[in-house]
Parts: sequence; structure tokens; C-alpha cells
Amino acid sequence: MTVLSHAVGTPLDRLDGPDKVRGTATYAFEHPLDRPAYLYPLQATIAAGHVTGIDAAAAHAEPGVLAVLTHHNAPRLAWADDAELAVLQTDEIAYRGQIVGAVIAETPEIARHAAHLVRLDCAERAHDVELRSDRDDLYKPQHAALFGQGGGDLMDGPPADSAMGEVDAALAAAEVTLDATYTTPMNFHNPMEPHTAVAAWNDDELTVYCSTQGVTMSRDLLAAVLGLEPQRVHVVSSHVGGAFGSKVYCHAYAVLAAMAAQFVRRPVKFALTRRQMFSLVGYRPATIQRIRLGADTRGHLTAIAHDVIAQTTKAKGYAEQVAVCTRVMYAAPHRRTTHRLAPLDLPVPTIMRAPGDAEGMFALESAMDEMAATCGLDPVEFRIRNEPAVDPETGRSFSSRHLVACLRDGARRFGWQGRNFFPRARRDRGWLVGTGVAASTYPSPRFPGNVTTIRVGPDGHFTVLIAAADLGTGTWTALTQIAADALGVTVDDVELRIGDAELPRASPAGSSSGINSWGTSIVETARRLPALLEFQHGGVVPQQGLEATADMPDNPDAARYAMHSFGAQFAEVRVHADTGEVRVPRLLGVFDAGRVINPKTCRSQLLGGMTMGLSMALHEQGVVDPRFGHVVNQDFAEYHIASNADVDSMEAYWVDTEDPYTNPMGAKGVGEVCIVGTAAAIANAVHHATGIRVRDLPITLDKLLQ
Ligand code: MOS
Repeated sequence: MTVLSHAVGTPLDRLDGPDKVRGTATYAFEHPLDRPAYLYPLQATIAAGHVTGIDAAAAHAEPGVLAVLTHHNAPRLAWADDAELAVLQTDEIAYRGQIVGAVIAETPEIARHAAHLVRLDCAERAHDVELRSDRDDLYKPQHAALFGQGGGDLMDGPPADSAMGEVDAALAAAEVTLDATYTTPMNFHNPMEPHTAVAAWNDDELTVYCSTQGVTMSRDLLAAVLGLEPQRVHVVSSHVGGAFGSKVYCHAYAVLAAMAAQFVRRPVKFALTRRQMFSLVGYRPATIQRIRLGADTRGHLTAIAHDVIAQTTKAKGYAEQVAVCTRVMYAAPHRRTTHRLAPLDLPVPTIMRAPGDAEGMFALESAMDEMAATCGLDPVEFRIRNEPAVDPETGRSFSSRHLVACLRDGARRFGWQGRNFFPRARRDRGWLVGTGVAASTYPSPRFPGNVTTIRVGPDGHFTVLIAAADLGTGTWTALTQIAADALGVTVDDVELRIGDAELPRASPAGSSSGINSWGTSIVETARRLPALLEFQHGGVVPQQGLEATADMPDNPDAARYAMHSFGAQFAEVRVHADTGEVRVPRLLGVFDAGRVINPKTCRSQLLGGMTMGLSMALHEQGVVDPRFGHVVNQDFAEYHIASNADVDSMEAYWVDTEDPYTNPMGAKGVGEVCIVGTAAAIANAVHHATGIRVRDLPITLDKLLQ
């Protein structure tokens, strides 16, 4: 009998690692093409209004300039309902930085130089870019939706509001209460690889080498916008240098590259500059969050209310699902969550790593820390005391929930026991020292629309085809491990093909759904491969030429169980007593993410998310100038991101469990739960060190020098 391999669970090195180290992994911009032209965009310099005149004579006069594209001469799009994607279709300006034209030239340098020679005249109307809770135009979105953007809906988002019991009466009657408002700023995704589209037409067929989290969705969107049959659009994205959500949806730059290539009848290459990424590829919108908690004197919550106001834009109503996390975290009979949106004249936001939960859990987990102190309880104990038996608002069981185990294991590893209850109790020379804890959660969904083909080659080799994406997360490696186990062979016997829309369709790498969706699809297809069982049990090499293709089945358990990853994060901080400088010598996280497919790539994801959470806590903030309606700090000199020197000891662990219901692998998502809670753990530790509660991210030193 053939011994089945056990690839899942082993710390396999990244299969794409050697190519990346040698520089032979091809990223979108590097695809060689015959006589490519280069594009540089013209961007609006007002926040609202319209273009009244364009003088491109000087640009046209530059040697090497092939065309200047504007709303006057740009090809008409077949589908212009999505205001973000409908580039150069009208003279309207909906935000500062919007694409209002493009120069196409023989070299990137000529394109950029000539773009600065184009004179743009605009008529300005009054703009409004300030997020305030007293705005009279706040509105309730249809859904608090992760994927509720036009043109790319994957599933209905959760409802905007939820309510159970009598929250106001319960708060009025509570023995202990908290009422606090937390704010978070605009955050920007800054992957190493900028957004890129390389477009080439061949008659009426279009190929786009694009840096994207989902080739199938990008292909479908581009086809719809350009009015082409999807089979005529070929999207290739073999390697992606980071994304964090900014490459899930197709943005205007890809449409523009396709238009430009059509216009000049040559392949066109377009890579955004870092600065352009601050207005053209989305961002995490700013929020104002009011949290009210009521409890009895023993620290049992009786009421929870989480009311959110989030930025959106007039151009496109993206709804960040900020308070949805509060619906699943803690038990309390009386509860309410609401989402209202403020439509501003700003660039269009999008999902960013743990969209909604990253900001929502900063507020909730800060509030839980404040409430624990008011109740006189240790914050770990306070959370355990309010652990729900079932999903508090639906009554469904959790498919698995090991938050308490994460808290206990984390507390043990971190050395939480014996922590002084009172703030400002520890001083080491000029530094105030404190520790903090926060919980994490993120949904673990499976997206529809996945198909896998498995082909049997010579000598028992298998080729596995699915249009999945590897953003640097480890998809190549993890899916190969899953396929090897599903086929009963070693990873060397599996050749995985992903990152190309010609492959069987796949959902995008979003919402920590990748392994859940693609892995399930691969396992289900392997099960249907004829003669496979015979091969596994009889040692018979299956015939070359066999193949199986299967749609991923729905998960009937998805309606019966609430499926979420969980975690607990612990932070130690040192705050300089004179300068307010914050250092984080130690971060420790323990996560409940079901069965871990690859401990090495999983750990890398967890550490990356925690680093990004540290960055969110202390550094990242897009600053809007209300006079001009733009984010002023559009580069790495001014928009600060945690660097090596900001990160000291960081440890990531997981509780060793399998989820019985999420998917055949027993896995849950890891890529986003790990950023959730970090900012609150650090804010709570800063409070413990200093006695100062910072409810407004990021925690910069000015806020500690009161
Ligand atoms: Mo993630 S923000 O859904 O790529």
C-alpha cells in the first residue's frame, strides 16, 4: 500500500523563493514586449470641479511623445457606472489626484517630463474633506460590506446595523459604565511592488500583465469596462510584491493602460510612482467610533454599543465594516452596532488588511481595557469572564473558537502573571514601562467561484491549475502542500499553476479566504480524479492524460456555524518620561487559526501582520489638508511605516487545533487576524506605562506630553 505523504504541517521553504532571490521571478512590469511605450498620468490638482481646458502643445512638441490622452480623445468605455474605473470619460473631477489625462511616450522619462508640460485649466467648486460626527450628510449604507463595492461584489456584506435587547435602558441601569470615542486616521497600503499594468492588444484581444490579488476578477472587470468578451481579455499576474488589499479591485490605472495601448497601437507599460499610489489605489478610511459598555460589579457585560462614522467618497460609496467585529466578540444581552458614512471629496477608499476589524478592534479592545480597570479586574480575566458560549448575535455555534486558550497561553508565555494592576508603576531609568493585552478576530470565509483542473502527467506527476494568487504570502507553497496530500503524493510530484486568468477561475486573495477557497477547490477536484483511489491504495500509476475539473461545492456548514479566526496579543512598551518617545521591546501573539498548512509561511504572515499593527499603532497616518483636499504626506519621508529599528522581539504562536467545519484541511485564515488587536495591545500598554489613555491613533509623542 502506498504511504500517503503528509506535506501539510511541514515548514516547507517557499517554492518561489529561489526564483525571487535570483531575480528570475517575473513581476508585471518586467514582462518583455516588443517596442513598448510608457505612460505617465496627469492628475487633478483640485479636489472638486471640472476640467475647462487642456493645452498639450508643448508636450506634443517633445521628441518621443506619442500621444496625450484626455477626456476629449480617450476611447469610450462600454461600462462607465463605476466612477473609479470610468477613467477619462467626462470632464468631472471628484478628488484631488484623479487621473485627468496621460502622456504616452517612447521612454518613461520622456512621458514624465512631457506630462509636466501639459497645462490644465480647471473650474473649482467648494470641496469638503473633513470627517466630523456632526455632519448633516451622514448616511446608512445598505451593507457594512467588505466586498460591497460596485462591479466586484463577491457576497452580500453584513447588515449596516444590528440590535438586540434594550441597550439604552441597560446602559442606564448598569452598575459600571464606559462611554468613550476612539478615532483612527487614513492608512495607506504600501506594498514593495507598485501597482502596474502592462497592456498589449492583438487585434481585438487584450493581454494585461497586472499586479493583482485576483486575475479572474480583474479580467472580468476589465472585460466589462472595455466591452469585451471575457475570453478576449488575458490577465497575467505571476508574482505580486505585496498588496494588503489594494490589489483586490481593479483600479483606474489598469483601464487607462489598456486604453492607451489601444490608442497608440503599441504595448504600453504603466507603473505607478509611490506618490501616485496615495490617490489612485485606495486606502483604509478614517473612523470615529463611540463605544459604550455596561457591566455589573463582578465584571459581566450587560450592554455593548459600537456606533461608527467612517469616511467614504462622493465618487463611490465604499462602506468599511468597522463594528462587525463587536457582534462576535463578547457576551452581553443588550447590544447594538451601527455604521454611518461621511461622503467626502477624497480619493476612493478600499479594503486594507483586516478591513474594519483592524480599526474596530482598536476601539473595542481599548474600551475593554478601560472597562476592566473600572471593574477592578485584570484585563485577561475580564475578557475570559465575558467569553460567549455561542455567536452572541446569531446564536450559532462557532465552528471553533479558542480565544480563551490564546489568552491563557499568551499570558503564560509573556509572563503576564504578577503584573501590577496599577498604571505608572514601573520605571527603568528615564523610561516608563508597561504591558498590555488585546484580543483579535477576523472572519474565515470561503468565496464562491472556484474551479480546479488536475492533470495526470507521466510518472505520476500531477499538474494543478487554478487562477489563485501569491502576493508574497506563500500560496505557491501552501497550495502545493495541500494538493500533494489530497493526491497522496509528495510535493515534488505536484506542479502548481496560478496567477493567470486563462487557468480555471478563482476568487481573489481577499478577506483571508485564499487557502480556504482554493485549497477546498483543489481537494474536491482531487477526490474526483478517476483512478486516484486505485492509485493511492494499489500503488498503480494512473494513466497519463487523465484529468478532472470540478467546481468547488458550497459549504453547508457555513450557514450553521460562525467561522472566525481568533488571537491574543501582548505588548510591552517603554515610554520616555521626558520626550514621550514610545518603544515596543516585545510583542507576543498567540492565534487560533485552525490547522496550520505551513508553519514557516504562517509564522511569516503572523509576524508581518503584527508588524503592520505596530506601525498602525505608532506611525501610520495620512494627513489631509482641508484647504486643498489632499493627503500631504505622500511619501516615505512623511508617511511613516515601522522599520527594522522599530521592531524588537516579536513572537508568534498558534494553538494547535483543527476546525471541523471550515474546509477539508481544517484551516482558518491567518493573513489578517494578526494585524487585529496589535494597536489596542500597544495603546493599553502605553496606558499601563503612563496612565495616559490615547484614544486617537497613531500614538505619537505629542499625545503623551500632556
Ligand atoms: Mo485583504 S484587505 O481582504 O486583501
